[in-house]
Amino acid sequence: MKTIDTPEDLRLQVGAWRAAGERVAFVPTMGNLHAGHLTLIAEARTRARRVVASIFVNPMQFGPAEDLDAYPRTLARDRELLEAAGCDLLFVPGVSTVYPRGSEAQTRVEVPGLSDVLCGESRPGHFRGVATVVCKLFNMVQPDVALFGEKDFQQLLVIRRMVEDLAMPVEIVGVPTVRESDGLAMSSRNGYLSAAQRTLAPTLRRVLTTARRALLEGAAVASVEREADAALREAGLAPDYVQVRTADDLRPATEADRDLVILAAAYLGRARLIDNLRVQLDTNAALQQTLR
Ligand code: PAF
Repeated sequence: MKTIDTPEDLRLQVGAWRAAGERVAFVPTMGNLHAGHLTLIAEARTRARRVVASIFVNPMQFGPAEDLDAYPRTLARDRELLEAAGCDLLFVPGVSTVYPRGSEAQTRVEVPGLSDVLCGESRPGHFRGVATVVCKLFNMVQPDVALFGEKDFQQLLVIRRMVEDLAMPVEIVGVPTVRESDGLAMSSRNGYLSAAQRTLAPTLRRVLTTARRALLEGAAVASVEREADAALREAGLAPDYVQVRTADDLRPATEADRDLVILAAAYLGRARLIDNLRVQLDTNAALQQTLR
């Protein structure tokens, strides 16, 4: 696996692959890789002859009081994992390569609406930072297909919308969340949890599962949200939000909507955990039975 840190060298390599008729898949990351990222690489390998990953801890998507400095940087280990997973090229640009004029002076990509709710409301500017860096990385890598985890469901929708609105020639693939054996969604930020907090963390997924069951049994959206919020508090988590939204554009769900997603963010010590579960209200009785 090659490691490259300039867009010029990256373009030469990807250009050579393209000239040879090879399809290129891209997995952007911020490093500190876990099994969720490696699943993205494995999925990428099924979709293209060549796989490019990037590691860039993007300052533009962190708020002033957030964990940019503390964010774990584990490049040597990440390289080994990527190589073993069959990644062909790792792109690791420096901050001055991505933002030569500084991130304040950087041309931005705004995805209105989708970026302003849920995590976007609690983390103003976060999705502007995500959309801007992903747009820029797409321009540098020029992939045919790019893969993102469904754990960051709102991010996935923001990126899909950006690609659609800006007519970018890249296919976006969402990959199901990879979980620990107790249900906790894998995340680089799980490392912030103490041993005691780690035992509490799977509560988030359990509460979402209970909420999904309630929706499938016909409970009203408002009461499902209220009970999920209360259950998280009772378990010792501090919910930022628990909301039922439409799965295609994150509108607040009404009783008429069928394709839903329950999204939650909750603080547990220093860690801000996020998770989500899709709910198809039209699913058949057999599926509903398996969820009981
Ligand atoms: O999901 C992430 O790791 C980041 O938000 C991304 C997509 C790599 C952009 O910095």
